[in-house]
Amino acid sequence: MALDLVAICALGLEELLAGELEALGVSDVRRQRGAVTFRGGWRECWRANLRLRTANRVLVRLASWPGADGDALAAGAAALIRQENLRWDGVSVAQLFDPDRTFAIHATSTASAVRDIRWVGLKVKDGLVDAQRQRFGRRASIDREEPETPLRVWLHRDRATLLLDTSGEPLDRRGYRVQTTTAPVREQLAAALVLASGWDGRGPVVDPMCGSGTLLAEAAWAALGQPPGCLRRHWAFEQVPGFDRAGFEAVKRETLPAPGPDVRLYGSDLDPAAVRAARINLKRAGLADRSEVRRGDGFNWAPPPGPGLLITNPAYGERMGQAEDQWKRLGDLMKQRYTGWTAVVLAGDAGLGKHIGLKPRARIPVRNGPLDARILVFDLY
Ligand SMILES: C[S@@+](CC[C@H](N)C(=O)[O-])C[C@H]1O[C@@H](n2cnc3c(N)ncnc32)[C@H](O)[C@@H]1O
Repeated sequence: MALDLVAICALGLEELLAGELEALGVSDVRRQRGAVTFRGGWRECWRANLRLRTANRVLVRLASWPGADGDALAAGAAALIRQENLRWDGVSVAQLFDPDRTFAIHATSTASAVRDIRWVGLKVKDGLVDAQRQRFGRRASIDREEPETPLRVWLHRDRATLLLDTSGEPLDRRGYRVQTTTAPVREQLAAALVLASGWDGRGPVVDPMCGSGTLLAEAAWAALGQPPGCLRRHWAFEQVPGFDRAGFEAVKRETLPAPGPDVRLYGSDLDPAAVRAARINLKRAGLADRSEVRRGDGFNWAPPPGPGLLITNPAYGERMGQAEDQWKRLGDLMKQRYTGWTAVVLAGDAGLGKHIGLKPRARIPVRNGPLDARILVFDLY
């Protein structure tokens, strides 16, 4: 039987994530707030973990039950363990909740009577271990650092949903960002800029204020078909009972990059530490031969012959007047030097992006950590 899968993402990225899932060929893709649900087997789950660029994690929905108070939360968890024939694409309750496997529970609560998330986690844990004692004669241990079964419980409108985290470390930790600078953009958001731009992978990629080089790396990996999980060593799904390593190796082989277009990357930054960081990160991402990163003012830089993709997330001075002026300069730069290019910019929420003075083809509100931001896409004629 197919799994109920959930890919979670930053608010605002749902549509791009749903597009990625549709491209993977999974079924029943449905957008939620901060998540996209879909169906498939373990292979689809591994493939999603390996290939989704805009997701934070991939989870399997295990069960759902009414949880208006602590007793109800515990009772629903216990009822799950008592089920004899329940399986998740071949993995039985007895295998997943084997008392010899450690587990941990991460809880959230929204719009529910039980608001204390520690209490939610505690009651669900109590239900699980009590039922384990009854069914198996002993209970599993908790391991918060490296659980064999990492669980999440979401309590929403007094209904609990128990999920298995199949990712472990969040998917944005691609493994190439070994050096950072101030305010680096998260990898999934960087990938979202690339996907939102609709760029076809042709022509050079330029980030005139490249910081640690994340946008350049994500653009190149997307254009080359490089799976975002290619450098990663561990996934939580490897601990699922009966994990088929040969099957996963086959999924990895099917995602090996085809010889891609001749992507060339160009970055500049005023800060020498950023230039150093970008060079190190791009090398780690396997992109050293394709990239040129130099120290300099992005405003005084003649781009390579295009058209291509201009991609950037500028961060300007604190003072409002100064920031407005800089956004206007960016707009002038785009008009004067990047005619015929596609441009995609991550702008903060303060409405400063409008000082670019060009009408965006697309404008996507997104959450950037604790901040509201906008992805703005421009066709520069
Ligand atoms: C928000 S950070 C970019 C972060 C980058 N996307 C990353 O992931 O690391 C903005 C960068 O713009 C650089 N910067 C600001 N003004 C610049 C200018 N006129 N020319 C070049 N770089 C500039 C800063 O040094 C900073 O590294």
